Amino acid sequence: MRTPFIFLICLWLATSLTAAYAEETPSPTNNNENSTDFIRTSCGTTLYPKLCYTSLSRYASAIQQNPAQLALVAMHVTLSKSKHMTTYISNLTRQADYGANPRTISALHDCFSNFGDAVDEINGSVKQMKNLGVGGGGDGQSLRFQLSNVQTWMSAALTDQETCTDGFEDVPECPIKKDVCNKATYVKQHTSNALALINSYAAKVTP
Ligand SMILES: *[C@@H]1O[C@H](CO)[C@@H](O)[C@H](O)[C@H]1NC(C)=O
Ligand SMILES: *[C@@H]1O[C@H](CO)[C@@H](O)[C@H](O)[C@H]1NC(C)=O
Ligand SMILES: *[C@@H]1O[C@H](CO)[C@@H](O)[C@H](O)[C@H]1NC(C)=O
Repeated sequence: MRTPFIFLICLWLATSLTAAYAEETPSPTNNNENSTDFIRTSCGTTLYPKLCYTSLSRYASAIQQNPAQLALVAMHVTLSKSKHMTTYISNLTRQADYGANPRTISALHDCFSNFGDAVDEINGSVKQMKNLGVGGGGDGQSLRFQLSNVQTWMSAALTDQETCTDGFEDVPECPIKKDVCNKATYVKQHTSNALALINSYAAKVTP
């Protein structure tokens, strides 16, 4: 009877020692370590900090400690999730068209169109974010104006993704509803985080 308890103590000791060791050992990738600290701190200002950190920390070497780059990577991540979601809904629609409840089918079609719009908006935002400052001289757009476009489009994308789940409100409970709403919520959280990181960056550069 005592074995599990002792085992747990050993496990606890082992993890504490590993943690202590990790903290005191200088890492050869010092730069990346600073970058992951930077990502963790920045993610702390978002609504879903854990999701933010786990989805972005793998890009630490590209992000360094650059808040614009951090926002851009977050936008790329949610663009990819949103694209994947449209493919998923389109697949589901093809299957569901045979025999699903008409309200479910209608909600699925709307959701496909909502996520399609979101993909376009995020895609446009990524393009603008990549060219920040570049068009500044040429077409006379200030950084503030360019960033406000990005903020507007990303907010619109978030609203579109919310509209998808809202559209399922009157659909009777079913596996399709549960699955689509869960996945849409997950993508929405990525979009919300990207928007928060853009807002932090914008607040820094355009006081
Ligand atoms: C990483 O952080 C440490 C301490 O915070 C600092 O001394 C060092 O210069 C940083 N390295 C880089 C590459 O930013
Ligand atoms: C959509 O369907 C295709 C073909 O059946 C499949 O290869 C793909 O993985 C599916 N994508 C998603 C996101 O469900
Ligand atoms: C994003 O926009 C570019 C053109 O700027 C286009 O080539 C690309 O297909 C778009 N991607 C998506 C997912 O809409």
